[in-house]
Amino acid sequence: MQLIVNGQPFLVLAGELHNSSSSSAAYLRPFWKNLTSMHLNTVLAAVTWELTEPEEGKYDFSIVDSLISNARKNNLHLALLWFGSWKNGLSHYAPPWVKKDYKRFPRMHIKGNFPVESLTPLSQETMYADAKAFAAMMKHVKEMDEQQQTVIMIQVQNEVGLLGDSRDRGALAEKTFNEPVPKELINHLVKNKETLLPELYKLWSSTGFRTAGTWPEVFGNSSSADEAFMAWHYARFINKLCEAGKAQYAIPMFVNAWIVQPEDLGPGDYPSGGPQSHVHDIWRAAGTSLDILAPDIYLPNFDDISTMYARSGNTLFIPESRADDKGTANAFYVIGQHHAIGYSPFGIEERVEDPVNGPLPKTYDVLQQLAPEILAAQNKNTIAGVWLNSSKQRTKFELGGYTLDVQLRRGRRLLVPGSAPETGYGLVIATGPDEYIIAGKDIQINFFPLTAGPAYVGYASVDEGTYVNGKWIAGRRLNGDNIMLNYNIADEAAQQKTGSVVRLQGDGPQILHVKLYRFE
Ligand code: DGJ
Repeated sequence: MQLIVNGQPFLVLAGELHNSSSSSAAYLRPFWKNLTSMHLNTVLAAVTWELTEPEEGKYDFSIVDSLISNARKNNLHLALLWFGSWKNGLSHYAPPWVKKDYKRFPRMHIKGNFPVESLTPLSQETMYADAKAFAAMMKHVKEMDEQQQTVIMIQVQNEVGLLGDSRDRGALAEKTFNEPVPKELINHLVKNKETLLPELYKLWSSTGFRTAGTWPEVFGNSSSADEAFMAWHYARFINKLCEAGKAQYAIPMFVNAWIVQPEDLGPGDYPSGGPQSHVHDIWRAAGTSLDILAPDIYLPNFDDISTMYARSGNTLFIPESRADDKGTANAFYVIGQHHAIGYSPFGIEERVEDPVNGPLPKTYDVLQQLAPEILAAQNKNTIAGVWLNSSKQRTKFELGGYTLDVQLRRGRRLLVPGSAPETGYGLVIATGPDEYIIAGKDIQINFFPLTAGPAYVGYASVDEGTYVNGKWIAGRRLNGDNIMLNYNIADEAAQQKTGSVVRLQGDGPQILHVKLYRFE
């Protein structure tokens, strides 16, 4: 799936503002210029329920209006983050009239019968109130923006889920937990049994795939049954919001997940019921109005986590991640390898010390130049991503009739300690027979043919260059040290088949056009 903006596929090169920044136009004013010079094309900014509906039924859209007008002035798009009933599991952004009326808008209770400052997703009253405000905002966005499409996506709530326990133990939740699992969910599981993700398949198999019964009867007596219950109710609630919002203005909507951390022991350590990958099937069963289940990834094993979240056809967007060298590696990888629609580091207005020459601006500059090529290649499935570091120094994949053996760039001899850089990344696009675009930094590639013909591969040409208004402008013709003998005594097989690697050794990400030839 690709994001279409003004009729064209669009690659989202974004950054997310700190939570409170968009609540004051004056506070945000000095930051807009930097956002543009950092080569962002989109800003993710919070719009809160508390400021949108300070009194019930009385709306104030001044934040939306100011975000739209400033984004336009700075040639940027927006993804608005609806901080409604929940933000990071809690309900701090609900308006005071909701917070104070805890009888009408009940809180969740955790073990020991403690109420927590978090609205229960089981309350219809809360759902209608939140959906009404959300729909009003979407109506306003449509009136302001349908022609221009400055606003391109909406995040609905932020990192939902219950913290402190695996499920809500309030009276309504207790009762519902011991009632039959809704038919809609069972039907979805039965219909998709063979393609369920392994985690949910395993959970359901623990009761012999029961198709009727209470939550513990269908999903067993562990905290995972609690988590399934919470996931269903959050997903239902949010799907209702998406339906109400899209009835006013149908643009893509996503949720973001607070992902499981290595030290977490179970649901409740991480937000229970949130859109974590192991409960994606439950989120899908709850409705189709929500488009993307997006992970916020700050953990170092970005490749594994993004792969988990790309399963079962989930379109990837990374709304929160890092902006440093490792972050730029993440962006290249996820866009190339998982065909992500975009990437967005968090705290963008403050995190990047150097708004022109920092790693993120350089990366977005290159990705922006390449966007038409990337989007076309995502569509044709002729693109791959590379993500390497000291703990993963090599990867191999097939693309465009060759196996590409990609390693961290290093000195001539593999075994010299410390000769490899810390991080290497890139994306590779097969553009024609024996032709590739390679963009990235600190990687080197060997090509091995997959088709009949001469077994040995050389470089007909390697050009460095840039795209200006979509047109390739070749710069240096690279040769010599840039296409090096792959002197690698540890890898005799590779040495026998090809003598040289193409190396990306620029200060920042480079774009190369590479033409191969074969000989014997
Ligand atoms: C994840 C949340 O989604 C963000 O809103 C923000 O609180 C960051 N964590 C802070 O690191």
